[in-house]
Amino acid sequence: MSKIAILELDGQRYELPVVVGTENERAVDISDLRAKTGYITLDDGYGNTGSCSSAVTFIDGEQGILRYRGIPIEELAEKSTFIETAYLLIYGHLPTHGELRRFSDLLTQNENIHEDMKHHFEGFPPNAHPMAILSAMINASSCFYPGLMGAANKSRFDIHAARLISQVRTIAAFAYRKSRGLPVIYPKPVYKYTANFLHMMFSDVYQEYELKPEVVRALDLIFLLHADHEQNCSTSTVRMVASSQANLFASAAAGVCALWGPLHGGANQAVIEMLQSIHNSGDDGSRFITQAKDKNSGKRLMGFGHRVYKNYDPRAKIIKKACDAILNLLNISDPLLDIAKKLEETALRDPYFIERKLYPNVDFYSGIIMRAIGIPIEMFTVIFAIGRMPGWIANFKEILDDPKSRIYRPRQIYVGPTLNSYIPIDQRSATR
Ligand code: SDX
Repeated sequence: MSKIAILELDGQRYELPVVVGTENERAVDISDLRAKTGYITLDDGYGNTGSCSSAVTFIDGEQGILRYRGIPIEELAEKSTFIETAYLLIYGHLPTHGELRRFSDLLTQNENIHEDMKHHFEGFPPNAHPMAILSAMINASSCFYPGLMGAANKSRFDIHAARLISQVRTIAAFAYRKSRGLPVIYPKPVYKYTANFLHMMFSDVYQEYELKPEVVRALDLIFLLHADHEQNCSTSTVRMVASSQANLFASAAAGVCALWGPLHGGANQAVIEMLQSIHNSGDDGSRFITQAKDKNSGKRLMGFGHRVYKNYDPRAKIIKKACDAILNLLNISDPLLDIAKKLEETALRDPYFIERKLYPNVDFYSGIIMRAIGIPIEMFTVIFAIGRMPGWIANFKEILDDPKSRIYRPRQIYVGPTLNSYIPIDQRSATR
């Protein structure tokens, strides 16, 4: 394989280095392109642009492969837990017994938010979207940890990372309880990560929530499957903010905002809203599929399609299987699951979706499980954010640990007015 790429511009010939990753992904390194040629590249939506080299997650979109630190998602889904996988993503190896115990203890010691943080919840209206609360409160919590700023950012990374992973759960549960006018339920040190979250969400002062092992496992699996996904929109946002040497909480709060969009993490909420609307209209999905193919309908088959996967998202396969298991266990028959399966079956046979290589992604079935567990729809993307937190932290750490890290500052091609001059207000015409 050639180690250089040849570029001919304006009669000049340039040699650009070729970079090859450990999975043989190839890139033309254009770090010196502008200095050498005066040209920049333009790539709307970064579909062809690598922003960094990373050792955290590998995706092969054509093959439908996803690996965290080289371990296939299918193996982790079957054998690991969310917290063990979080450790793997952040520190680069599966933890020993001692490492896992210390990590778990750190999460337990940091599961409560600062008591004064509770006043902030009073300021949000009951119908405030929990993603708005989550990003605000993650940023607000940094005010209670001045040690986050500056050099301490690095020396106390482990405690900050544990605080963030542990407290994102507490903030989310408190936001839910506040929205329902319920008293907050504090975390219990005896409970492991996901069980504690369900306890904080659904226990009552007078009665503990019954923790069914299969329900805890199903939600833990959802968190694990969402834990990282290379340079997706929200992770790239976290890296963008981290590259300015902003602290971990500020970077994560920015990630929450990016994740909220319906084209990204907000899709799991949009999928259920789509399925509910199809169900309410009495359509079996066929009418909706026709609309989703019509650009003028303003509708898309939410939970389908992916910038990288041009094959079935491996996470969707795992979640679809878990759907059937959890609904059977809870003896729930959800008509929305039947509609989802019908939509998938129809779309996978339809040339429009086949030609564009549109398959179910992680969001297509995840909402069905969350509904079955009793998680309200407005919390779906919050669940995604809790799951994605270790991946954001792992990417933040790559920047923190990189002595050559530079601020992310893309270029642009300017297409605005050429040289112009100031016009006094009395001489300006109304027409524009
Ligand atoms: C996540 O990046 C990640 O890794 C994200 C994620 C992660 O773990 O972080 O995997 C999580 O965000 C999953 C994606 C969730 N979003 C959705 O499910 C929303 C619906 N899907 C899309 O809007 C779309 O597929 C995207 C946003 C996911 C990808 O968009 P792209 O790569 O920019 O593709 P595109 O919009 O340019 O579409 C290409 C063509 C277009 O048709 P043509 O102009 O070629 O005729 O495919 C069509 C699109 O109209 N198309 C769809 C469609 N998705 C793409 N048509 C109908 N329904 C859809 N869902």
